[in-house]
Amino acid sequence: MPIRVGFVGVGGIARRHQSYVRAIEGVEIAAHCDLMPERVDAAVFEFGGKGYLNFDEMLANEKLDALYICIPPYAHGEIELKAAEAGIHMFIEKPIALSLEVAERVAEAIERSGVICSVGYQLRYHELIPRIQEELASEPVLLYCARYYCPMPPGGKPWWHRKSMSGGQTVEQTTHLIDLARYLIGEISEVYAHAAMRYYKRTPMNDVEDVTAVLFKFEGGAFGTLVSTTVMESSWHVEIDIVIPKRRIELIGNTLRIKDGSVEEITAQRDWYGEIDKVFIEAVRTGDASLIRSSYRDAMRTLAVTLAINDSVEKGEVVRVKI
Ligand SMILES: NC(=O)c1ccc[n+]([C@@H]2O[C@H](COP(=O)([O-])OP(=O)(O)OC[C@H]3O[C@@H](n4cnc5c(N)ncnc54)[C@H](O)[C@@H]3O)[C@@H](O)[C@H]2O)c1
Repeated sequence: MPIRVGFVGVGGIARRHQSYVRAIEGVEIAAHCDLMPERVDAAVFEFGGKGYLNFDEMLANEKLDALYICIPPYAHGEIELKAAEAGIHMFIEKPIALSLEVAERVAEAIERSGVICSVGYQLRYHELIPRIQEELASEPVLLYCARYYCPMPPGGKPWWHRKSMSGGQTVEQTTHLIDLARYLIGEISEVYAHAAMRYYKRTPMNDVEDVTAVLFKFEGGAFGTLVSTTVMESSWHVEIDIVIPKRRIELIGNTLRIKDGSVEEITAQRDWYGEIDKVFIEAVRTGDASLIRSSYRDAMRTLAVTLAINDSVEKGEVVRVKI
C-alpha cells in the first residue's frame, strides 16, 4: 500500500516539497487543500490527487497517512490539533506558531496521539553538517556568527510583511540560523537585540523590521551574533561562521571552509534539500521517529529563542529564554 500524503497550504514551499515527495517510491500525493482555488487547481494538475478548499472536508473524505502543513505562521494550531486527533503523521513548516501557548497545545496533542512529526528545519540535513560536527566534537565553541541578507519576499505573500502574521524576519526566516546554532552548539539562554525599519516605509500593510542585530549567549558559554536584513536588491547571502580555538568554520550556501592558516574548502556534492522529505517519509514508513532531526518539541525551543529576540527588541533589554 502506498503512503498517502496530503498537503494543506499549497503555496511556494509546498510545491517544493511536492516535487521531492513525488520522487519517493511508494508514496501517493492524495490531496491538496488551500484557501485559494487557483493554487489547489495548479497542485492537482501538476501532482495528481484531489483538491479541497476546506481542511475539515479533506480530513473527512481522505484517509491520509501523512500531512504536510505548509501554511503561514499565523495560521498554525487548529489544523495540527485535528490532524493529531485523527492519528495523521505531520510535517510542519517552520515557524511552528507565533506563540508558545499555541505550540504547547499542539505539542501535547502530538504526544497524546503518538504521531510522528517533523519540522521544516532542513539545514539540519545539509550534506556538510556532519563535517562541521566532526570539527566541533573535540573543541569548545567560542563564537557563532550568522548573517542572513536577502530581498523582501516577492509579491503574493502579504502575510510576510505584517509582524502580527509572520512574526517578522527573525521568527519567520532567520529562525533557520538560530535553529542551526542550537543543533550544532547547544541551548541559547539569553538574547539582546535591536531591530528597526531603516529603509522601507512603515505602512499598515508592512511593519516588519528590515534590519536586525542580535547578540546571544549559549548555556555552554559560547557567544553568538545574528545580523539580518531584507534590503538587498536580489541577492541572498546566508552564512554561519563558527570560531573554535585556532580555527574558523564557515558555511556559505553549499561551501564549507575550514580556516586555520590554510583553507580547506569542501563543496556539497548532491541536492541535500529534499533529504528532510526522504527522512520524514522513511520515518512514517518504518514508524521510527528517531530518524527525525527536528521534532516539534525541539522546534518549540527555537521558537522560544526567536520570540525572546522580538521581546528584547521591544523592551530594549536582555531577555532570558523561557522554556
Ligand atoms: N523551510 C524553508 O526553507 C521554508 C521556505 C519557504 C517557506 N517556509 C515556510 O512555509 C510556510 C508557508 O510559506 P510559503 O512561502 O509557502 O507561503 P505562501 O503564502 O506561498 O503559501 C501559504 C499557503 O497557505 C494557504 N493557507 C493559509 N491558511 C490556510 C488554511 N487555513 N487552510 C488552507 N490553506 C491555507 C494560503 O492560501 C497560501 O496559499 C511559512 O511558514 C514559511 O515560513 C519554509
